[in-house]
Amino acid sequence: MRLLEDRIAVVTGGGNGIGKAIAIALAEEGARVVIADIHMEAAFKVEEHIRQNGGTCLVVEADVVRKTDVERIFDETLRVFGKVDILINNVGGTIRKAMVDFTEDEWDQIIDINLKSTFLCSQAAGKIMLKQKRGAIVNISSIHGLGGIPNRSPYATAKAAINSFTSTIGCEWAADGVRMNAVVPGYILTEGLDHTFNAGLLNREDMVRRTPQGRLGTPEDIAEAALFLVSDKAKFITGTTLYVDGGYSAYHAPEIQTSVYHQI
Ligand SMILES: NC(=O)c1ccc[n+]([C@@H]2O[C@H](COP(=O)([O-])OP(=O)(O)OC[C@H]3O[C@@H](n4cnc5c(N)ncnc54)[C@H](O)[C@@H]3O)[C@@H](O)[C@H]2O)c1
Repeated sequence: MRLLEDRIAVVTGGGNGIGKAIAIALAEEGARVVIADIHMEAAFKVEEHIRQNGGTCLVVEADVVRKTDVERIFDETLRVFGKVDILINNVGGTIRKAMVDFTEDEWDQIIDINLKSTFLCSQAAGKIMLKQKRGAIVNISSIHGLGGIPNRSPYATAKAAINSFTSTIGCEWAADGVRMNAVVPGYILTEGLDHTFNAGLLNREDMVRRTPQGRLGTPEDIAEAALFLVSDKAKFITGTTLYVDGGYSAYHAPEIQTSVYHQI
């Protein structure tokens, strides 16, 4: 018996990067997956991959910062599958610039894509899950929400708010059988991150050096954690944030970590 046999899972932004890895991992564990994305070509490629591997997948074109689109995701999921067991709030993004240079529109855009989308999707899914008295939601946060990382002010603010939202709603819905947790990724090697390296916006070596395990994460590292948190193996876990960052957020020493093995 697979971990998520016959569960219905909605993954926002499941067409690329971390969301894609989560959608595939959920399907491999028996869940029927709904991918909600604005990038249709990418979403259909993931759908094809899941189908070719014997899974079931539905793609819904939706902008998750629009309430009407979000309602359509869940209406469509109920119409096709009759229930919603799992929601992965994965859509997010950032603009890198100094706080004093952000326009009001840019600030709203980054807060909305990260935080408002999480509110809208959780509210729509929660209304169904609370009636079912069963459900599990995982929000994809970021290490940027935990400490000071300059030039990402709306993104860091939104991700910190997602951590607070997670503990608040985890408690608000705990007695009704609906769990909410967050995964906090470190630097994860997605196509998007790779582009920022190639464009010279971020330095890969700096990130690797600052990560105690000495490597970037993979989308599959995040998928494994999300899979655990939405499964019954985590049935007593709610309102928490799980850091999946190779030790990045735990590390506070001024010097760069070197292998202890080589020191003894
Ligand atoms: N990549 C990293 O290193 C990293 C680190 C920490 C946290 N995160 C978080 O992980 C999540 C996924 O990041 P990623 O790097 O895989 O992103 P990505 O850019 O590779 O993929 C995001 C997906 O979301 C879709 N999308 C974007 N806006 C949307 C909208 N309004 N409505 C519906 N779909 C939309 C895109 O089409 C794409 O398929 C984000 O919340 C991000 O903040 C990423």
